Amino acid sequence: MPEHALNGKAVLVTGGAKNLGGAISRDLAAAGASVAVHYHSRSDKGLAEDTVAACVAAGGNAFAIEADLTAVAEIRRVVDSVVDRYGALYATVNTAGLAKGAPMTEVTEEEYDAHFAINSKAAFFVMAETAKRIEDGGRIVNLVSSLLAAYTGRYSVYAGSKAPVEHFTRALSKELTGRRVSVNNLAPGPMDTSFFWDAAAPGEDEFSRAQTPLGRLTKVEDVVPWVRFLLTDGRWLNGQTVFLNGGFATR
Ligand SMILES: NC(=O)c1ccc[n+]([C@@H]2O[C@H](COP(=O)([O-])OP(=O)(O)OC[C@H]3O[C@@H](n4cnc5c(N)ncnc54)[C@H](OP(=O)(O)O)[C@@H]3O)[C@@H](O)[C@H]2O)c1
Repeated sequence: MPEHALNGKAVLVTGGAKNLGGAISRDLAAAGASVAVHYHSRSDKGLAEDTVAACVAAGGNAFAIEADLTAVAEIRRVVDSVVDRYGALYATVNTAGLAKGAPMTEVTEEEYDAHFAINSKAAFFVMAETAKRIEDGGRIVNLVSSLLAAYTGRYSVYAGSKAPVEHFTRALSKELTGRRVSVNNLAPGPMDTSFFWDAAAPGEDEFSRAQTPLGRLTKVEDVVPWVRFLLTDGRWLNGQTVFLNGGFATR
């Protein structure tokens, strides 16, 4: 793959300021992409600015944009801003998500609604609004979870609200027939970021390691190359979910 395979390609990374999304933004910029670094919480503005600076230092273009993606008008504003800024939209990598680890009996109505609002509704409309603006030959990648292949408690509302994304992905990939656009999901295993640690029960990391033949949690660095591959040579994968977890779960 040429080093600057994404030269000048406009890519939106939702949740693109930190953790997995931050690493994806930096990596795509290093491949020459023009990245829109979306972030959610106002308190992450500084982090987003650092990520933008790192993207530019790596050789790409970048700007930061704040939005709560549970409102469709905000998704439209974000997508429009990418096209306004870069003149096109080649790809969207949707890493936005929310996770609570708790038995179903302890999940509140507000928590249920919040999970479905970002994990399902926002994913649906990020995909739909991207599809309206994406260039022919473009790519859409959603981050889901290896829990979609696991048989476990405590993550009913998290995994349950990520599950519809597989169906959205199948549908959109068919609907974009003739446009040469690939739409796929990446499903990491339990991954060593604050997102995992905030949701995990005591000892869950040990359990996850024990369930993983390769003997550790997933790292951000295990996932990033797959995003770059899907945005470059990986166009033939379409409508699929790839489980990236060192053998934690298969389907
Ligand atoms: N870490 C894991 O164990 C793991 C495993 C498998 C899959 N994943 C998936 O990988 C993706 C990235 O996770 P990560 O570990 O890198 O954690 P992360 O940085 O916390 O990623 C989640 C992102 O979603 C954003 N977000 C949450 N609510 C939002 C809203 N209403 N509007 C817009 N953005 C919102 C968060 O912003 P704020 O923090 O500002 O709210 C954050 O930037 C997620 O989709 C997650 O489900 C994670």
